[in-house]
Amino acid sequence: MRRVLFAVGSLALLCAMAAAQAPLDHANGPAAHAAPAAASDPRALVPMPQPLAQHMLANMRDHLAALQEIQAHLGTGQMDVAARIAETRLGFSSLGLHGAHEVARFMPPGMQDAGSAMHKAASRLALVTTDAAATGEMAPVFSALAAVTGACVGCHAGYRIK
Ligand code: HEC
Repeated sequence: MRRVLFAVGSLALLCAMAAAQAPLDHANGPAAHAAPAAASDPRALVPMPQPLAQHMLANMRDHLAALQEIQAHLGTGQMDVAARIAETRLGFSSLGLHGAHEVARFMPPGMQDAGSAMHKAASRLALVTTDAAATGEMAPVFSALAAVTGACVGCHAGYRIK
């Protein structure tokens, strides 16, 4: 009986270790497997004038704050406020706010596409959230929110700035 318990325990531990490993491998991408563990950073380095880089990072912090505020308002059922934040701080309507045009000039095409994908996903989140205010159907909102954070994750996996 002891042995069986031990075996089950070890299996559970192995599974937990495998689960902990999986997202790491995913985040590091295929290149991480080819190179020795510590050294590699597969992200493309995008040079940018210092003031613009600072400006972009400040925008990024506001992106994260906006996501937090959206989630907080979804939690309290203030769908209209959540939708407005999604559209004005992350969606297509945010382009002027962030001086996106100036920063985008320094972005390689793939990074520009990742930025567009985020704005598109956020504007869609705003629409879906507005619909949910009428239908009470939350599943599409969570999916749309995941598409927005997916766009953050996608760009972060591919690029860094200096
Ligand atoms: C078009 C690409 C792109 C998209 C889309 C994007 N980011 Fe970023 N983000 C970056 C880059 C590049 C950096 C700098 C990373 C580095 O140099 O190590 C960054 C940095 C950040 C930082 C760190 C800011 C600091 O002060 O250092 C935060 C927080 C952040 N992003 C949040 C977000 C969130 C939240 C989203 C989605 C709503 C998002 N980003 C979408 C490219 C992007």
